[in-house]
Amino acid sequence: MKSWGAWVAALVVAPFLVWIQYQTFTGHGQSVKPVESPTFTLLDHQGRSVTEADFKGRFLLVYFGYTYCPDVCPTSLSTQAQALDRLGPAADRLEPVMVTIDPQRDTAPIMAEYVRSFSPRIRGLTGTPAQIEQAAKQFGVIYTKHGDGDDYVMDHSAFTVLIGPDGKRLEQFPHGISAETLAERLQRLIGTS
Ligand code: NI
Repeated sequence: MKSWGAWVAALVVAPFLVWIQYQTFTGHGQSVKPVESPTFTLLDHQGRSVTEADFKGRFLLVYFGYTYCPDVCPTSLSTQAQALDRLGPAADRLEPVMVTIDPQRDTAPIMAEYVRSFSPRIRGLTGTPAQIEQAAKQFGVIYTKHGDGDDYVMDHSAFTVLIGPDGKRLEQFPHGISAETLAERLQRLIGTS
C-alpha cells in the first residue's frame, strides 16, 4: 500500500502541482475567484477617477495588462481592436478598457498613448497599487512581478471579461481567441437592439 501511495503521488499529484504552477505563473489561469459584480475605483487615462458605477448601462469589456508587456498584451489588444472594428456600430454599446497591473510605470499619460496605438475606442485605466490590487481581485486576475530595478516583467492573467449593463459578469474570453470569434461572441452577447 505504501508504494502505491508513492506512485500515486509521483504520477498524479506531482504533475497536477506542476500544472497548477504553470496555470498560475503563465498567467493564463486564475487563482482568485472573480466576484459576480466587480467594484473598483481607478483613474482613467485622462486623469479622472472612475468606478464601476460610471459604466452602468453599458457593456464593459475589461482586460488587465501592462504597457511594457513584450507580446501577450499587444496581441490581446490588437485582437480586441480588430474585433471592435468587425462589430461596427454595435461596438458603440461597448466600453473597452485596459487596466494596468503595473501602475508604477503605467501612469495615465502612458496609458493614454498606449491604448490609442491600438484603438481610439479603448480606455486605459491605472490607479494606486492598492486600487489595482483590489480591482484585479474582483475580476479574478492575478499578477506577479519578476526582476528588480527598472528591468522587471509582470506575469499576469490574460483573459478578457465582459460585464453587462447591470454590472454583472457575463462572459470571459481566453487569451488567444481570434478577432473573428471574439466579435461573433460579443455580437451575440450584446445583441443589436
Ligand atoms: Ni501582458
